[in-house]
Amino acid sequence: MKIMPVSMPKDIDKYFFNRVKDINMINTQLSTVRLDIPPQLLITGYRGVGKTFLLKKVLNDQSEDILTSFIDISEIVGRQKGNLTEEKVLKEILNSINETMSKDKKSYKKWIDKITGHVKRLQLKNYDFPGDANIMDIPIPVIHDNYDKLSKFVMELPQKIVDESKDIKGYIIVIDEFQLLKNVKKPDAFFWLIRSFVQKQFNVGYVFTGSVSKTSDIINMINGQEGAFGGRLIQINIEPFTADETRRYIEEKSNNLKFTNEGFERFYACTRGIPLYINSLSSVLPNNTICDEEIIKQTLKFNIDQVAMMWIYVWGRLSEGEKDFIIYLLEHEGSNRADLDNELGYAKSSITRFIDSLSNQGIIEFNRERKFVLADKMLERWLKTKYETNGFYPL
Ligand SMILES: Nc1ncnc2c1ncn2[C@@H]1O[C@H](COP(=O)(O)OP(=O)(O)OP(=O)(O)O)[C@@H](O)[C@H]1O
Ligand SMILES: [Mg+2]
Repeated sequence: MKIMPVSMPKDIDKYFFNRVKDINMINTQLSTVRLDIPPQLLITGYRGVGKTFLLKKVLNDQSEDILTSFIDISEIVGRQKGNLTEEKVLKEILNSINETMSKDKKSYKKWIDKITGHVKRLQLKNYDFPGDANIMDIPIPVIHDNYDKLSKFVMELPQKIVDESKDIKGYIIVIDEFQLLKNVKKPDAFFWLIRSFVQKQFNVGYVFTGSVSKTSDIINMINGQEGAFGGRLIQINIEPFTADETRRYIEEKSNNLKFTNEGFERFYACTRGIPLYINSLSSVLPNNTICDEEIIKQTLKFNIDQVAMMWIYVWGRLSEGEKDFIIYLLEHEGSNRADLDNELGYAKSSITRFIDSLSNQGIIEFNRERKFVLADKMLERWLKTKYETNGFYPL
């Protein structure tokens, strides 16, 4: 039976569809690591559009002379109690470099001695080493409130690895859910720190991505005129599948789903070409029936929690005020700032906080009519359906 997964599958190639143009565009940028031009990218796009999946595929497909690391900031946040700190992020980067190098010890054997030697020289100068922590066989420093040394050590390591090995031509590091970096103590300073190292590393590429709206202040903080990267990050937006791509995707990867013409139109209107929703709605539709508009409508209504699963999770983590804000936008089909200030019933400073937080999570966006609107139709549909069924919005 064919499956269209709703979570990240292990076998990426088996489930991955198309994205040829995006892959080419990203690879063209990334290939400059070989030419001593460090690529720096910012990949944006709606929640569930496939940014993570796409970047995993891109990393997987790099040739052997390019090392890669994938760091998901949400994993650090999820795993650890307490606040996200700069140190935790740096250690996670270090861990993932370690993992990359440990994967194929044999092929790195030739040059691992050199790197070990290098780290040992560093040790004498700067670091305090424990007996138990290792990168391969290289001891890594224990950091006692020594942020400067940790950051230098971690941020310079990828370039050193490239420098020490003839076979390795570049190192690509993806930082997923980067918007969460806003929760470290001094996010501005942290981005500037990354930037200051990135500038001196000619064969190390950084790709930032996350569930963040294009108009959020975190994008400004990192890539705006005053931001650490000051517009140097090349921004690539990943679009949902077109109707045509959606049709081909269903033909190729679904478990024999069939639609009438109107049925397909409805399906596309509901999913908007976002693979996460294409997959989740497909998984609840009947396979041996030709789905018409009515079947799509009913199936979605009765399975809304399953299709909009992501939002149950996101909703549960929002504050009361943020939920009120979202419901206000839903009921008024968007709103400008003045109306929010006058009618929402929260202080202006709170409203500013809601706006920052919700756009940094890709939940709202600021549209051309200068209104704040919900960024995701499935969120709208989920809230409306819950209201219709239960008489109140999800708590
Ligand atoms: N090119 C694709 N081919 C097949 N399935 C895809 C593709 N892109 C995404 N998907 C499916 O959609 C799901 C969501 O994709 P992914 O997690 O990459 O989205 P995202 O843009 O990173 O979302 P978020 O902003 O929430 O992190 C994946 O689990 C995968 O099943
Ligand atoms: Mg993602």
